[in-house]
Amino acid sequence: MAENNSSTSTLSFEVLLEYLKRKHHFDFTGYKRSSLERRIQHRMGQLGIESYSEYLSYLEATEEEFAHLFSTIEINYTYFFRDRDTWDYLCQDIIPRIQAAKPPDQPIRVWSAGCASGEETYTLAIVLAEALGIEQFNQRVHIFATDIDDDALRKARQSSYLEHEMTRIPPHLLNQYFERINDRYQFRKDLRAAISFHRHNLIQNAPMSKIDLLVCRNTLIYFDLDAQTKALVRFHFSLEDRGFLFLGKAEMVPGELDLFRTINVNHHVYTKLPKEYLSPRLFVQAFKRPR
Ligand SMILES: C[S@@+](CC[C@H](N)C(=O)[O-])C[C@H]1O[C@@H](n2cnc3c(N)ncnc32)[C@H](O)[C@@H]1O
Repeated sequence: MAENNSSTSTLSFEVLLEYLKRKHHFDFTGYKRSSLERRIQHRMGQLGIESYSEYLSYLEATEEEFAHLFSTIEINYTYFFRDRDTWDYLCQDIIPRIQAAKPPDQPIRVWSAGCASGEETYTLAIVLAEALGIEQFNQRVHIFATDIDDDALRKARQSSYLEHEMTRIPPHLLNQYFERINDRYQFRKDLRAAISFHRHNLIQNAPMSKIDLLVCRNTLIYFDLDAQTKALVRFHFSLEDRGFLFLGKAEMVPGELDLFRTINVNHHVYTKLPKEYLSPRLFVQAFKRPR
């Protein structure tokens, strides 16, 4: 039966979100409500389900439904070398700047935030290795890759992908950075030591520190304005004074935040504006505990 009473509908939508948090540890607090509702309703439509409460019963009874819901929301969608031209820019322009600004014996700390199943993290590793050389990469680079989705992190840690997932990688890089094992491709073992994967919630957990390059792409887009601000203030805290922030094609830093300077508007690359103090309003907004 359709939930035509909107307060009942809101209530059962909240119950559905509460269930997803409890059962699947996926907290949608801070997500854009309207697009979340639209996408969940799209999935319900595919199943011929009209109410959130009926969909909740279906989710409880059908083990594989959570994965379907996730892919409908496109929350884990990712692929290697997403927006190829931007990775070229990073390789040719930004990484050499990071290298030039630091003494050669100092580590280069990189945060791949919202890394999903690892395709972006390994792209980043390849680009860093290409820009710095394998020796410098092994000696200096630490990549902290984080996400809130345990299943995605499990796949990322395995670093093993099927052939159809590799199509965007330029062939010479595929040969150089992956080992073919039966029907799968595995990222080079010697470079994997530089990469660690961790579960981390961008709007609730303490941010990483002393980061030179922070890549967070196609993740803030899901957040409402308050959650975006929380994440961006935390990114500001994370970055070294000359550190760079690299967002997705549909994402930007609101100018009024006054925390970052645009380096390249087409590639959505920013640098931190060092601040002695954050405004108390921003500090409280970013670090207040969730209700
Ligand atoms: C669409 S994927 C983007 C993957 C990759 N960055 C890319 O651009 O191809 C968004 C990722 O953000 C993660 N995510 C969503 N909310 C998050 C949060 N609050 N904290 C950390 N990661 C989050 C999701 O689990 C998902 O893996």
